[in-house]
Amino acid sequence: MKMLTFRKKQHLVFLLCVWCLVVDWSKAEADESEGGPMEKTEQAALYSTIQGFVGDSWNGSYLYPDPCGWTPIQGVTCDMYNDLWYVTALSLGTMRDNSLACSETPVIRQELFELKHLKSLSLFSCFTSPNRYLASISDEKWLDLSKNLETLEIRSNPGLIGELPSAITNLTNLQSLVVLENQLTNSLPENLAKLTRLRRLVLSGNRFTGRIPEIYGLTGLLILDLSRNFLSGSLPLSVGGLSSLLKLDLSNNYLEGKLPTELQALKNLTLLDLRNNRFSGGLTRELQEMSSLVELVLSNNHLAGDLTGIEWRNLKNLVVLDLSNTGLKGEIPWSILELKKLRFLGLSNNNLRGKLIRQVETEMPCLNALYVNGNNISGELEFSRMFYERMGRRLGVWGNPNLCYHGDEIKNHRDHVPFGVNQCKAVTLV
Ligand SMILES: *[C@@H]1O[C@H](CO)[C@@H](O)[C@H](O)[C@H]1NC(C)=O
Ligand SMILES: *[C@@H]1O[C@H](CO)[C@@H](O)[C@H](O)[C@H]1NC(C)=O
Ligand SMILES: *[C@@H]1O[C@H](CO)[C@@H](O)[C@H](O)[C@H]1NC(C)=O
Ligand SMILES: *[C@@H]1O[C@H](CO)[C@@H](O)[C@H](O)[C@H]1NC(C)=O
Repeated sequence: MKMLTFRKKQHLVFLLCVWCLVVDWSKAEADESEGGPMEKTEQAALYSTIQGFVGDSWNGSYLYPDPCGWTPIQGVTCDMYNDLWYVTALSLGTMRDNSLACSETPVIRQELFELKHLKSLSLFSCFTSPNRYLASISDEKWLDLSKNLETLEIRSNPGLIGELPSAITNLTNLQSLVVLENQLTNSLPENLAKLTRLRRLVLSGNRFTGRIPEIYGLTGLLILDLSRNFLSGSLPLSVGGLSSLLKLDLSNNYLEGKLPTELQALKNLTLLDLRNNRFSGGLTRELQEMSSLVELVLSNNHLAGDLTGIEWRNLKNLVVLDLSNTGLKGEIPWSILELKKLRFLGLSNNNLRGKLIRQVETEMPCLNALYVNGNNISGELEFSRMFYERMGRRLGVWGNPNLCYHGDEIKNHRDHVPFGVNQCKAVTLV
């Protein structure tokens, strides 16, 4: 077997040598030294741009004499316009093992803005030591990229401080603006609504403060994620104008006020995540109009109110419903059983009372996590042994002092006994 593969290799080497003799290398070499059909200025701008990020020791013209042809650079994409190569996508930083890593002191050189055909720019894990890198770019420079830039992605840069320049709102052809997990501060640019072609706006994991600006007219927006910042104030009513929206994640901020009734216009929304904020004013009835919702996560807010105001049957697609720690009062209504697709129901740490309806076992066949711990649920848990098996540790019922479990059949199966709940005392008939 070994012998055979060795033979095959020999054979291959031989073929390769024959091919070498046949191919006319003199022609190829000539092409290479010319560097392919690319304007010298475009090529020089590319080398200088990369060198700025990667460091002066990186010699582009030496290492990659034909960057759009024979000697492609990892992270650089070119396209041909009028028989000439232009750079259309540039991605720098440690994205993959062999991608161009930025130096410790990267510089955004002016030559970047001479790459006028650039459609996509991505900087990943590039800026590590704190500096206001974006402040070095003048407003006019951004304008130079505005004709073609569709994607701007600035991700995981712990050294990127300063503000998000309002001039990026001049990049009116942007479809995707992702500024994720940096250390940017101050408020968001006021006129983000100028970016009318946006489909994805992700500014999460920074240190942005202030209000969420009005976002009228972004009718093509599919994803809005401003989570994990320090945003405050109320949700702008113009959120109702984002009619195509699929995902709205504003979790982990300091947002307050009522959930606006305008949310009901978001008929295609599948994810609404507002957890860890300061929203109040109860579960707005209009929530039930967002009939495409799959995940509704409002945990850790000051909502208050109860569960009876919503026609749960209108939210048939819900798979995740998390209303933990929202100050809910009252009983868990029977109408919650209409959520046939529900897999996760979180109602922990509220002021709920009354019984835990045993029919959640039969009427919610997909349910595999149920948390009602830290309430005042009372009475007897009357689930079957099978239900306890199905839920395992994802059944949270502890912290309800007046609750007990029923059934001798699970008593001897430690794993099936609901944690933190006592067995009901046998009723002694007198
Ligand atoms: C890059 O290498 C070429 C050829 O080796 C040399 O002529 C040129 O000066 C170098 N450029 C830089 C910026 O080091
Ligand atoms: C660029 O955007 C800023 C802020 O949105 C604006 O003040 C400025 O006039 C714009 N410049 C041009 C040339 O459009
Ligand atoms: C909502 O989704 C449906 C089905 O995918 C689509 O036809 C419709 O255009 C969407 N509505 C909006 C406002 O984008
Ligand atoms: C809990 O509910 C019981 C009735 O089941 C009631 O007597 C008690 O006052 C309630 N406790 C609290 C803290 O609300």
